Amino acid sequence: MNDNSNNARERQTYYIERCREQLDNIKASTGKSPTYYVTTFGCQMNARDSEKLMGILEQIGYTEAASEKEADFVIYNTCSVRENANQKLYGHLGSLKKQKEKRPDMLVAICGCMMQQADIVGYIEKSFSFVDIIFGTFNLYKLSELLFLRLTETDRQVVDVLEAPEANVEMLPEKKKYNFKSGVNIMYGCNNFCTYCIVPYVRGRERSRTPEDVLTEVKCLADQGYKEIMLLGQNVNSYGVNFLDESETIKNNLEYGFPELLEEVCKIDEIKRVRFMTSHPKDLSDKLINVIERNPKVARHIHLPVQSGSSAVLKKMNRHYTKESYLELVNKIKTRLPDVSLTTDIMVGFPGETEEDFQDTMDVVRQVGYDQAFTFIYSMRTGTPAATWEQLSEEVVNDRFSRLLELVRETSAEASARFAGQDKEVLVECVNDHMEGYVTGRMDNNILVHFEGSPELVGEFVNVHLDEAKGFYYMGTKL
Ligand code: 5AD
Ligand code: SF4
Repeated sequence: MNDNSNNARERQTYYIERCREQLDNIKASTGKSPTYYVTTFGCQMNARDSEKLMGILEQIGYTEAASEKEADFVIYNTCSVRENANQKLYGHLGSLKKQKEKRPDMLVAICGCMMQQADIVGYIEKSFSFVDIIFGTFNLYKLSELLFLRLTETDRQVVDVLEAPEANVEMLPEKKKYNFKSGVNIMYGCNNFCTYCIVPYVRGRERSRTPEDVLTEVKCLADQGYKEIMLLGQNVNSYGVNFLDESETIKNNLEYGFPELLEEVCKIDEIKRVRFMTSHPKDLSDKLINVIERNPKVARHIHLPVQSGSSAVLKKMNRHYTKESYLELVNKIKTRLPDVSLTTDIMVGFPGETEEDFQDTMDVVRQVGYDQAFTFIYSMRTGTPAATWEQLSEEVVNDRFSRLLELVRETSAEASARFAGQDKEVLVECVNDHMEGYVTGRMDNNILVHFEGSPELVGEFVNVHLDEAKGFYYMGTKL
C-alpha cells in the first residue's frame, strides 16, 4: 500500500461519514431507512467491484433492497465486452426513467467499463439526463464523494470518469455474497491488446498488486472463516510483470511471479481450495503446472480461452499462439494433471474467418473435450483494430455459431460425465431452490453437484458420491 492509496482511502472515509449524516437526515424526514440495489453485468472483475460498491453503501447506512423496484439508490455496473450489453443497458435505463418519474427521489448511478467510453457517456448524459451519477472503472472508490456531491450541491448529473488509474485504493469496505468463498484481485487491467477486445482500453494497462497486499487480504479472509479463494486477473500468468507499488518481496526476489504467489496462498492453513482465472495460453508456464501438481489445494480447473482454433485467425487476433502450440499445451496439462477440467472461451465470426478457419475451431473443440465452453459471436468494438476490418455477414456467422453450440453441447456433456461413479469433495454453496431438502455445491473442477442435505452444510466441504451426470451437473449422495 502506498501514500496515494492511503490518502484516497482517508478522503473516502471522510465522505462516507458525510454521506451518513445526509442519510440520517433522510431517515429522520421519511421515517425509513434508505435502500440500494446494484445490478452487475459482465465478468468476475465487475462482480468484485460491485462487492466494494455495496460495502461502501452499507457503511454509509444503506441496506440492500430485495429488488430494484423498491430501491432508493439504483446502481448499474456495466460491461462493454460485447455490443448487446449497450442495448441491454439502454433498455434498462428506459424503464428506470419511468420509475424515476413516479419516485423522483430515487437516485440512479451508472459505472463500470461502458462509462470509460466517452461516446457512451455523452449519449447517456444527453438521452438519459435523469441519471444522477456517472463514474468509471478507475475511481469506483469515490462513490461516497460523488454521492455526497449529488446529495448536497447539485441538481445536475455528477460525472467523474478518469482516463487512467490515479491510485489503487486498498482496504475498501466490501459486502460479499458468500462468507466462505471469495475472489481476490491480484492484478488489474490488461496489456495484451487482442485485436477484438476493448478491455485494455476500459480497464487500463496491467497493474499487479504487491504480494504483500494480496497475502494480507487472503489471510484476513482466512481469519474470517473463508475457505476458498479465487485469484483474479485478466491474465494471471503475467502477474508481477508490472507492479503497482514497490514491493519488499519483489525487491528481494526478482523471480517472483504467479506460481510463487499461488504457492504462498496455498500455505495459508485455513484456505482449503484455491482457484485462479484467467490464464492466457501464451503465458501458462511449466513452473505453474509444477506448482499446481504439488499443491492439492489448487483446484483442478483451468480456464484457458482459445478464442479460435485457426492459427491464421489467432495471428490476426494477436493471441501469440497457434492451434498446434495450444493443443500441445493442453496435452501437457492433461498429462501432468489427469483430473483437470478445462474450460474455454470461443469466438466465431472474427473478421476474415473462413469456413476452413471455423473447421479448425471445431477440431480443437473435438480434440480438447472441454468441460465447459463459453461461446460468443464476435462483436465489433469501436476503437479496436478489428472493428476497422471487413466484417462477415450475419447469416454466415449465425450458421457457424449454431454449429459450434451444438458441438460444444455434445462434447462438454460427454467430457463432464467422466466423473460419474467417483467420490468427490464438494464445497456446498446454497440450498437448492428447486428441490426441497437438497443443497448445491461445486467440486474443485468447478462442476455443480446437487444432493440431499441440510442447510447447515452451506459453506462446508462434504464428500459426495456422484450418482449421475446430467450434462452440466451431477446428482450425488452425501457419504
Ligand atoms: N466480441 C465477442 N466476444 C468477445 N470477447 C472479448 N471481446 C469480444 C468481442 N469483441 C470474449 C472473449 C473473452 C471473453 C471474456 O469475451 O472470448 O475471452
Ligand atoms: Fe481482452 Fe485479450 Fe486482455 Fe483477455 S487477454 S482481456 S481477450 S485483450
